[in-house]
Amino acid sequence: MKRVFSGVQPTGNLHIGNYLGALKQFVELQEQHQCIYCVVDMHSITLPQEPQELREHILDIAALYMAVGVDPKKSIIFIQSEVSGHAELGWILNCASYMGELSRMTQFKDKSKGKENGSIPSGIFTYPVLMAADILLYDADIVPVGNDQKQHIELTRDLAIRINNRFQKQTFVVPEGRFLKEGARIMALDDPTSKMSKSAENDFSRISLLDSDTKIKKAIMKATTDSDAVVRYDIEKKPGVSNLLSIYSTFSGISIEDLEKQYEGCGYGNFKKDLVEVTIDAIRPIRERFEEIRNSLELTKVLDDGRERAEAIAEKTLARVKTDFGLGR
Ligand code: TYM
Repeated sequence: MKRVFSGVQPTGNLHIGNYLGALKQFVELQEQHQCIYCVVDMHSITLPQEPQELREHILDIAALYMAVGVDPKKSIIFIQSEVSGHAELGWILNCASYMGELSRMTQFKDKSKGKENGSIPSGIFTYPVLMAADILLYDADIVPVGNDQKQHIELTRDLAIRINNRFQKQTFVVPEGRFLKEGARIMALDDPTSKMSKSAENDFSRISLLDSDTKIKKAIMKATTDSDAVVRYDIEKKPGVSNLLSIYSTFSGISIEDLEKQYEGCGYGNFKKDLVEVTIDAIRPIRERFEEIRNSLELTKVLDDGRERAEAIAEKTLARVKTDFGLGR
């Protein structure tokens, strides 16, 4: 059985970009694979977090995993900082990675834009190495993520191959990213040229999985489109409408082509109204399940059990890696 690993940062609640790009895959994959899903809290502290809020968000994300359909009987759900192997392997991989390749990461470039070197936390710079450690620690074959993580997966593969070549053995399994055709890059509703993100200031730029029906409606009705009133997919000329079509298609399972036909000559009013309905129908059950799970004893048990199962795998990999590197006795 192939092994799957993925993670989400607990820096805020999940939005539909996270869901359609990554979490939808988490649920699909668990039927045929051994899946490990992590709340990557150590990634979150690359920027300062309010401790109490971080704690809440960690549990929110774990509960959201279950609310969207990750089944703890089939998959492992756990918190990164509770398995110390991530930090240990992170250090080992840091020693095998180069400043040059880390400087080329677009997320690093974006996050450090306009800042002096003296004020950029080094965690932001080495963050992709910790992500590589997350993946390699579990000998994962497949990593389901959105498009924005592509470069980080490439780095993970490069590191694994580099170390395997150095020792002339399979110290690491070389993983592959898994990206969806639709949903891999959901854009902000107010600005379809930048990706939907947890941290954007305008709350109407995204739809969170915990948003009320009223908020969802308002966000979609306000979403930026264009003035030619034709429902057609054209990412260059009509980025706003194309983004809404992607969202509609992934939530409903109807192809973009069929949606274009369905709304021919209709303008944006009806299209948006139906999209509101489709989105609310998809999100309401998630929100309701989240409310049941979030403060339940079940969540604590799932995370305790997940930590144990994750630790057992991590320990074995780390012992192998330390031997290959000649660390310890
Ligand atoms: P994060 O927490 O930013 O996002 C979680 C997942 O959601 C995807 N995603 C999107 N997909 C489509 N459209 C969007 N607008 C959108 N925004 C986010 C992301 O691609 C991701 O799959 N570095 C990772 C977390 C991580 C990780 C890992 C992932 C740490 N270690 C190991 C996989 C394996 C991150 O910051 O994701």
